Amino acid sequence: MPESFFVLFKENLELATDEVVAIAKMYDRFSKVKIISNLVIIQSKTNWSEISNRASFVKISGQILRKMSGLFLDESNFEILKNAKTFVCRIINLSSNQFNVPELENSMGDMISKFSHAKVKMENPDITVYLIFTNKENFFGFSKMTKQRVRPKKTKTYPNELDWKLTRAMINLIGLKPGETVCDPFCGTGTTLLEAESMGIHAIGMDFDEKMFNIAKENLKENKFKSEIFNTDFKEMLKIPEKYDGIVTDLPYGLNSKTSEKPEEILKRFISVLPKRKKIAIMYKKELGDNLKLKGLKKYQIYRHKSLTRTILIK
Ligand SMILES: C[S@@+](CC[C@H](N)C(=O)[O-])C[C@H]1O[C@@H](n2cnc3c(N)ncnc32)[C@H](O)[C@@H]1O
Repeated sequence: MPESFFVLFKENLELATDEVVAIAKMYDRFSKVKIISNLVIIQSKTNWSEISNRASFVKISGQILRKMSGLFLDESNFEILKNAKTFVCRIINLSSNQFNVPELENSMGDMISKFSHAKVKMENPDITVYLIFTNKENFFGFSKMTKQRVRPKKTKTYPNELDWKLTRAMINLIGLKPGETVCDPFCGTGTTLLEAESMGIHAIGMDFDEKMFNIAKENLKENKFKSEIFNTDFKEMLKIPEKYDGIVTDLPYGLNSKTSEKPEEILKRFISVLPKRKKIAIMYKKELGDNLKLKGLKKYQIYRHKSLTRTILIK
């Protein structure tokens, strides 16, 4: 079974790791995972680029060709370069050893040139060959040039909108599949709806503030996405549970957005009516959740600034 590697950004590392693992398991529940600091190795039926395309915090990814005991490579390792015109070598050093990276990349390039007709090209090569060093094991891998993923356009923004990467990660953490439907009952500018639709997941949004509802509507129109949205209180979601598989939302903080009541009252009311047997990821101001002693399967703390830490709760 193919093995893939994912080097993650170190910020919010636990969340980033869980996101990649959740995506792999969503596509293939028998995926096997090995975590070495910010490197995740996944054995799965799914191609690395499919997992990487959905993930928010992946820096570099590709397919593992084999583990390495030394730096010795032979012709059989360069089958992948057979039809390539250009390549580049990259060292990913996650070990505590110091290497002269440019020198090592050059000598690998020279070595590979002996086995292949492909020429070195630094920018946008057909194939990137990776040597990954960790304190435990070393890996030899590659990635092919893939199309840049198309980001949804957001023409209308607002100060309280949620960062798209965290929103996307929340959708991924609950393992929603293409064709399923997510509901965001506090949709604001529509970030959840846009991210979901861009991954082939249908979306339903609600916002009680007409201004925010109109912003979300415009953002959806701009991308020709067909999410259903309603200008209403979040409790409308209770009337249509059969229409969605999961809830992903970011509750009001009382900072820039209008709120129907105090943020802690909304959170309390919302938590008390959450439907059972749905996949749920919610974000709220940490201290509000702590006061209510909210529990779930997993919590992540996201530090924003000294007076705002947010919690992502997976239920
Ligand atoms: C933190 S913002 C959501 C931001 C959103 N994730 C985004 O990226 O734009 C919370 C939203 O909840 C809405 N809201 C407040 N009270 C509500 C209620 N009772 N029912 C539905 N929406 C409400 C506000 O209008 C605001 O747009």
